[in-house]
Amino acid sequence: MSKKLFIQTLGCAMNVRDSERMIAELTQKEGYELTNNEAEADLILINTCSVREKPVHKLFSEVGGFVKNKKEGAKIGVCGCTASHLGSEIFKKAPQVDFVLGARNVSKITQAIKTPKFISNDINHDESEFAFAEFRNSIYKSYINIMAGCDKKCAYCIVPHTRGDELSIPFEIIKNEVTKAVLSGAKEVFLLGQNVNNYGKRFSKEHRKMDFSDLLNELSLISGLKRIRFTSPHPLHMDDKFLETFTSNPVICKSMHMPLQSGSTQILKAMKRGYTKEWFLNRALKLRKMCSDVSISTDIIVAFPGESDEDFNETLEVMKELEFEQIFSFKYSKRPLTLAASMPNQIDELTASKRLKTLQDLYNSILDKISKKQDGKVFEVFFEELKENNQIAGRSDNNFLINVNGSEELLGCFKKVKINKTSRTTLYGEIQD
Ligand code: SAH
Ligand code: SF4
Ligand code: F3S
Repeated sequence: MSKKLFIQTLGCAMNVRDSERMIAELTQKEGYELTNNEAEADLILINTCSVREKPVHKLFSEVGGFVKNKKEGAKIGVCGCTASHLGSEIFKKAPQVDFVLGARNVSKITQAIKTPKFISNDINHDESEFAFAEFRNSIYKSYINIMAGCDKKCAYCIVPHTRGDELSIPFEIIKNEVTKAVLSGAKEVFLLGQNVNNYGKRFSKEHRKMDFSDLLNELSLISGLKRIRFTSPHPLHMDDKFLETFTSNPVICKSMHMPLQSGSTQILKAMKRGYTKEWFLNRALKLRKMCSDVSISTDIIVAFPGESDEDFNETLEVMKELEFEQIFSFKYSKRPLTLAASMPNQIDELTASKRLKTLQDLYNSILDKISKKQDGKVFEVFFEELKENNQIAGRSDNNFLINVNGSEELLGCFKKVKINKTSRTTLYGEIQD
């Protein structure tokens, strides 16, 4: 009987891709088989996130649960961003953990499972050219890493301490990976990095000069590839060339993530974001003008140290002006190793909660307005996921989630859909003949 692997993934798309790689290495090189049941697993992996304090607490409660439920002799491995920055502290806090494997050390998973109390958490370990085995959760949509790490030092953010310095993956490797994914059925790829539009700044070996716009244009020529998405670009690097490429290349989906974080230039400066409110507005308004059907999503942090009511109001003003189609909003969370953790003017929890609620209420009213506006419109939808009640879900080019009545044979297909019902988060429609 084959050995069973249970894996839990917290955090962002990069972690999802890292988990796919660990599954690939373990199933293809070590004979494991995936299971959804931790109690029957021989190996339990948790791929952790450190970006806010909550998921770190979750790690230790989850490990406690695994210890209780696991079968005798089963191993527990802690991987990902929390493994990177806590390292051997994890063994001290949770002695039942068998190994600790940091975020940029995924290629060592086969070694980790065979070595007692293995630990590897070098945040600058270079695996940009490692030949990983292949496994993907979806055959229709593939995550493709284009870079590791991040060279920015945003004052609130732990990611540079968990994923190290920025390192771009050579073009030929990315191209091969996209081509392989397309040959196995993918029509859409999602390019991943913490600063994707800074692609090409540093490679581990000599590489021809290439920026993110060049990368997008070259990948868009791959035959059979219908859609390219990417996350996260940085507002600072949204130069005219990038906006023009984004607008003019039909393979690039018209959905842009523009992480604002704050609408106050003073707070942006304290956050070390490198741009002002005016620059952000200039880029977003230019994009809306160049590309009328673009949808823009953003990330916002409320209650960063020193954020006054006026600063917070500026964030609300930017939201009203730009009417983002999607917002991911967070209360500031104090993280170890970051500059902001030692800032004196931390904001109390009650104020933070109130601000988050105000922001989310405003967002909901914007979203209701945006959703209603889509009624009667026709979108080209790529169907990706079967739902209950004979529904199937897909995304428009500009990333609206759209459900229609339909079954399995629509998976992986593009169809024109006319919207006939809207809700805050989902549009519903009918396929047009
Ligand atoms: N590289 C991306 C962000 C990666 S982290 C970028 O620059 O936009 C994803 C999001 O988590 C961030 O955009 C930010 O909004 C949020 N975040 C990061 N650190 C945080 C912290 N300490 N507290 C609250 N939210 C945080
Ligand atoms: Fe964190 Fe800033 Fe890097 Fe994004 S750009 S990962 S927020 S340090
Ligand atoms: Fe992603 Fe969380 Fe790490 S957001 S980069 S898994 S800290």
